[in-house]
Amino acid sequence: MVKIGVLISGGGSNLQALIDKVKVGEIKGDIRLIISNNKGAYGIARGRKAGIESIYIDPKEFENMEEYNRRLIEEFKKRKIDLIVLAGFLKILSKEFISTFRNRIINIHPSLIPSFCGKGHYGERVHRKVLDYGCKITGATVHFVDEGTDTGPIILQEAVRVEEGDTVESLGKKVLKVEHRLLPEAVKLFCDNMIVLRGRKTIIKQE
Ligand code: GRF
Repeated sequence: MVKIGVLISGGGSNLQALIDKVKVGEIKGDIRLIISNNKGAYGIARGRKAGIESIYIDPKEFENMEEYNRRLIEEFKKRKIDLIVLAGFLKILSKEFISTFRNRIINIHPSLIPSFCGKGHYGERVHRKVLDYGCKITGATVHFVDEGTDTGPIILQEAVRVEEGDTVESLGKKVLKVEHRLLPEAVKLFCDNMIVLRGRKTIIKQE
């Protein structure tokens, strides 16, 4: 069983999608710890409802983000976590965190990377930019996390059509629906040991 740790900052609908797939046994993993950097994150309640240890750790209690990350590493290590899932986590991880869990951190991003990603591209801003640019297609990407922002090897991607009349809200909803399928699928592949890394590319083994 792969021991999974999840980092969140908000509503946690992606976390919920993951919890649901673990519950029905589709993912050979076990969510052991959820950490939020935001006290009001609804994801904490979702985790607790599912009987998962879910905690809030306040970044303001630490001298700097390196120290905060050190605490996160400590909490995950204490529970022997194998895989870290970023499910709407809005903080940048430290180099130390990334090297500690090298190739064992997965993130979901609401666009087709390398478009509309990197610094400042989070939440509704991404969909706003897609609409302002006039794109006909956007989507969701699940990738491994490296030292850059949204630059790690891509695991899965799926396109979403931008339709005339789409708003930030309607587009966000369509992309989120895809995210809820894609993130658990990538976690399942990881837990089944089906992802092979070749440099900055991944190859998904065929059953
Ligand atoms: C998602 O759009 C995810 O791609 C992004 O943040 C949002 C989180 O939503 N990184 P939720 O907290 O999972 O509902």
